[in-house]
Amino acid sequence: MRGLIQFIVATMIVTLSIGMAQARDVTIRLAHVDGAEWQNSKKGAAGVIFKNIVENETDINVQLFPAKALGDEDDLIQQAQEGTTQVVIVSGAMSKLCKPAYVLDIPYTFTSAPVAWDVLDGEFGTLLADECLKRTGLRTLAFGETGFRNFTNNVRAVQTPSDMKGLKFRVQPIPLYIEMVKALGAEPTPIAWSELPNALTTGVVDGQENPVGTVYNNNLHKLQKYMILDGHNYAADFILINDEFYELLPAQDRAVVARAARIAGTMSRAIQQFNTADSLSTVIKEGMQVHTPSAAELAAFRSLARPAVKAWLKDELGDDVDWIAKLEQAVASASAD
Ligand code: MLT
Repeated sequence: MRGLIQFIVATMIVTLSIGMAQARDVTIRLAHVDGAEWQNSKKGAAGVIFKNIVENETDINVQLFPAKALGDEDDLIQQAQEGTTQVVIVSGAMSKLCKPAYVLDIPYTFTSAPVAWDVLDGEFGTLLADECLKRTGLRTLAFGETGFRNFTNNVRAVQTPSDMKGLKFRVQPIPLYIEMVKALGAEPTPIAWSELPNALTTGVVDGQENPVGTVYNNNLHKLQKYMILDGHNYAADFILINDEFYELLPAQDRAVVARAARIAGTMSRAIQQFNTADSLSTVIKEGMQVHTPSAAELAAFRSLARPAVKAWLKDELGDDVDWIAKLEQAVASASAD
């Protein structure tokens, strides 16, 4: 009898330790620069959804590092390449490592968010993701949304490109944005996202450019008086995973991670769309002067910024220049649908 009890206890201990070893023994660290909450932060929403699905359907533990906890986007991409942070959600910074991704930021390319979604979720998005995987070791699991970017400033209302003359704009530390602002006659200053509020408060720059939701969520409307809804770029979010880590996961976990990221990307788009509408009425109520450009005003911005950026990008891309044509074909066919 004593032997039987010892056997049962030993079996229980072994079973328990095997169970403990399997449970939550793989961790995904997921980082981004936006707020943590899902209701008004597009990357926050994507992170929360991803964690929820992956933790419920696998034994993987997901730790979230929102709000620049692990640094700005350049830092996050580096950590993802090194494998110390397994999943990162980043916007424009990806193009610095994977130059073909620059084409997404050619100004005034996308006429609406659904056109951008069709392009990114279709053949073009797959081609671009495959290319960036080869160049960076980072797999694009899905595309989320930072959204259409607009200029704000604290000096004067901007209605035409001539109003931009001499204004100093903070741009993301991404060369294409420097070229775009120069082409519009203004002065670009690349500054990290984490330093933007300080640069606006101290007057190092007069303005900046971001989607309406980002302006509101980060209280930038309290530092900026004027906004023009020119929507110069549709900024996509890349939901990226270190590919070596991904390939080592069991097939069924890989499938869950990939599906969770797709749903997270869709969620980020929905939150960003909701945010844009909601934030616009709030920033106006709170005193910001917002100008919606006429078709002729928009055409004036487009005719200055687009050719200049494309000329610059052709030099950057060199032999890869057909990425511009591929994107334009994809946009034309998505717009015709
Ligand atoms: C930036 O301007 O640096 C980005 O748009 C910040 C963000 O991704 O929310």
